[in-house]
Amino acid sequence: MSPILRILLAVGLLAGGGTAYAVLFAKPAENVIRGDDVAKAMSWQSSEQCKQCHQDVWDEWKGSHHQISYLNPEVRALSDDFRNKECQACHLSQPVSITGFAERTLPRQTRPTEGIGCITCHLGKDGEIMARNSRPDVACAPVQNEMFFSVELCASCHNQHETTDQWRASHYAEEGIGCSDCHMDKVERVLADGSKKPGREHRFPGCHEPGILKKAGTFEVELDGDELVLALTNSGAGHSYPTEERHRAVDMMYRFVTADGAPDEWQLGFRFRRPYRDEPGEDTQLPAGERKEVRVPVPAGTVKIEARLWYRLKPFIGDDDPASTLLEEREVIVP
Ligand code: HEC
Ligand code: HEC
Ligand code: HEC
Ligand code: HEC
Ligand code: HEC
Repeated sequence: MSPILRILLAVGLLAGGGTAYAVLFAKPAENVIRGDDVAKAMSWQSSEQCKQCHQDVWDEWKGSHHQISYLNPEVRALSDDFRNKECQACHLSQPVSITGFAERTLPRQTRPTEGIGCITCHLGKDGEIMARNSRPDVACAPVQNEMFFSVELCASCHNQHETTDQWRASHYAEEGIGCSDCHMDKVERVLADGSKKPGREHRFPGCHEPGILKKAGTFEVELDGDELVLALTNSGAGHSYPTEERHRAVDMMYRFVTADGAPDEWQLGFRFRRPYRDEPGEDTQLPAGERKEVRVPVPAGTVKIEARLWYRLKPFIGDDDPASTLLEEREVIVP
């Protein structure tokens, strides 16, 4: 059996129907069977269908926050196990193209383990697969769609807390540096015939990964006369830092050490966060490119100052909580 025939049969089997076979056997005299003929006959319904030909992408996506969005215990707890139906709109959503780019998505009832899957992002409104490039020659026949590989795809779900608007107001928007430039690293794909091709990683790292968190800010700790200067610049996030969920907090902490070696308690120099709706206080998230500085008088007898920068997934937790990530640690000797 020729390789293309084998692929077509596999696709037909996965589709669970005879549609691909119909295409196949309706044209027995033709030697060339185009990918888009198969794709037209296909009904893309599940990420499982993509898995057999895009195993590498699947492996990256599997375990990502997109894949677990409906299973995530944090979300289940806050949504009363999704009895709050409002939450399903983004956490188990219909394909973005159905409601339209940058529009609020609708909930679906199927394939809970797929959360936000291949279908959610890639399925076009005419049943085609949307991509950066049109490839009528391959079995899934992806079709180029410029909205698909723009921030508008992400905006449907990622603007509830203005992350996309924050990005639009930043210099990244002017420079054309979009969400996927920072959240989908460049990778090399090895195709079935052994050839190589550039691809984009599908893990979508965010604030659960120290690696990307450490790129977000530039932390400065200095002594200026008898004042401690603590400053943070949002030098690496394409939106405010922190962004999205109101739980997220970034804390600049410090403590003074005296000659006998005894350190004070840790003190909060500044907290960057957007408070809950019913919580007092202002929005202190740090917009892209901006710098925030605080000054603290250094008490007499101080020999050393220690400073730390923390990222917290939840606001009211201690340093020992696994939801706290230590991003930076500095020491300044007081002369
Ligand atoms: C029978 C095999 C097969 C199946 C099933 C399949 N694809 Fe593909 N697809 C390919 C091949 C081959 C290519 C070309 C090589 C590459 O770019 O990985 C490709 C390319 C792509 C591309 C890249 C287009 C570009 O911009 O260059 C996207 C996106 C894509 N497929 C998405 C999907 C999605 C989503 C599914 C499931 C709904 C799927 N494919 C199912 C074989 C398949
Ligand atoms: C259909 C809705 C939807 C679309 C479209 C979508 N996302 Fe998401 N995204 C979510 C949800 C919901 C979560 C959180 C899931 C969870 O943690 O349970 C998430 C999580 C993430 C995270 C990880 C955050 C963390 O807490 O670690 C990143 C980064 C991210 N998305 C970036 C993107 C980018 C970039 C795009 C566009 C290419 C995009 N998303 C498109 C809904 C979506
Ligand atoms: C408009 C789309 C949208 C709706 C509606 C929505 N979410 Fe989300 N949710 C997101 C996105 C996007 C993320 C990822 C960003 C982040 O983690 O800050 C997320 C992340 C979360 C997280 C963080 C998960 C983690 O592991 O840290 C929780 C918890 C959560 N959502 C709960 C809910 C609850 C409860 C509801 C319903 C009241 C809800 N969401 C409704 C889009 C949405
Ligand atoms: C959150 C949205 C989202 C999800 C979920 C998603 N993709 Fe993608 N995918 C994209 C975007 C955006 C691009 C284009 C990136 C670019 O070229 O800038 C892309 C590119 C691709 C490509 C071409 C680049 C490469 O890395 O080879 C393939 C193939 C692909 N996706 C397959 C899949 C498959 C298979 C799944 C499910 C396992 C999936 N995608 C899930 C958004 C998504
Ligand atoms: C210049 C690089 C860059 C660009 C552009 C960018 N991000 Fe981020 N993103 C980051 C960094 C760094 C972090 C970690 C710090 C933070 O949370 O702000 C992050 C964090 C996130 C998170 C995690 C928030 C959470 O609470 O879990 C989400 C979701 C996210 N970005 C979505 C987006 C979306 C959507 C866009 C496009 C509108 C985008 N990002 C554009 C660099 C970028």
